[in-house]
Amino acid sequence: MGGKLLAIEDVFGQEPFVDVQPLYSRLNNCAVNYKVFCLLSAAVETGLFDHLESPRPVVELSRELGLNLRITRIICKCLEKLGFLVEVNGAYQNAEISNLYLRTGSPLAQENVLKTLRGTFRLWEKLPAILKGGPVKIREEDFFGEDHIHAIAAEHLTGELPKTVRIVAGLPEFQKARKLLDLGGGHGLYAIAFSKLNPGLQVFVYDLPGVTQKTRAYIEKHGAKVTVMAGNFFQDDLGSGYDLVFFAYNPGGKSPGLVPKIHASLNEGGLFISKHCFYRKGEETKDILLDLEWNLTTFAGVKKGDRVYSFEGDLSFEDYMELLSGYFSIEKVIETAEFAGLPLGKIGDALDSKIIIAKKR
Ligand SMILES: C[S@@+](CC[C@H](N)C(=O)[O-])C[C@H]1O[C@@H](n2cnc3c(N)ncnc32)[C@H](O)[C@@H]1O
Repeated sequence: MGGKLLAIEDVFGQEPFVDVQPLYSRLNNCAVNYKVFCLLSAAVETGLFDHLESPRPVVELSRELGLNLRITRIICKCLEKLGFLVEVNGAYQNAEISNLYLRTGSPLAQENVLKTLRGTFRLWEKLPAILKGGPVKIREEDFFGEDHIHAIAAEHLTGELPKTVRIVAGLPEFQKARKLLDLGGGHGLYAIAFSKLNPGLQVFVYDLPGVTQKTRAYIEKHGAKVTVMAGNFFQDDLGSGYDLVFFAYNPGGKSPGLVPKIHASLNEGGLFISKHCFYRKGEETKDILLDLEWNLTTFAGVKKGDRVYSFEGDLSFEDYMELLSGYFSIEKVIETAEFAGLPLGKIGDALDSKIIIAKKR
């Protein structure tokens, strides 16, 4: 294997003895898909979709947006072939999917998802430097406080949020709850949704001080009655008297230390709802490329483990459930397919996360 050497004169006279197909098919996918990504990003960035709610001839579009006519014409054709624009009597108009997800004014705009994908590509481009000098060091607050929190919000609105909220709101305990904590709630959209579904509920969202400014902006935008709490859940008090603690996709989601703390913050019979990606004992990896992506950066506050979404000191699924059973009765474990959104091949994907519903004993 791999030992056969090729003499330089052989390259002209015969085809290579190892087929190049597996390499070229990967490179071909990279080339085509990266160009599509750049095309969609450019169209969003230049406001093309914002101007095509109704049909516009290319000449008018390029004049209004100050774009090169020739390139705009080709770009519109490309976007039409890809299903993002439709042609109407020589003019172009957004396809439904673009109106909903690519127009920046839409409540479901995915602009920030494209931005963070670009950020992820930039990080991967640093791979040779990271390989030599080690991971890029970031503070959780800087990471989540910037575009990421907006991207998570936008991604979740495409499906995961309404599905998860329906699961929680369908519980009889939710209807009776008076005080709810969304721990590590980030954008706060879950807290906002819960507050709208149960107007008698006092809702709190807890996150790092550098993130809560963003949380407040979401609360304001949605005109919700939600109180923001700034703190570090590993070190600071969580408050008390909660009937429900919702804890999703957080560092600490598999940590033994937070279980007694969350338990103590709940009223008797209160619910702890945790949504996290767990590893079973002996499980090696969920996605080797995401393991690598996870290791390209380090967090200042918590030490990451080797596998995606893992941290030093995390418990396996089996051990976490055993620990949890000491404090709570496990009501239900809900599998990924019932709530997860679609994957994007980057950190943020649900992978095989589960929702655990546990009741304080
Ligand atoms: C992946 S986001 C999840 C946001 C939201 N729960 C969701 O499911 O969409 C993780 C959140 O945890 C917050 N976080 C991380 N470490 C924290 C800590 N030590 N204390 C409080 N919040 C923290 C981050 O700032 C971020 O908003």
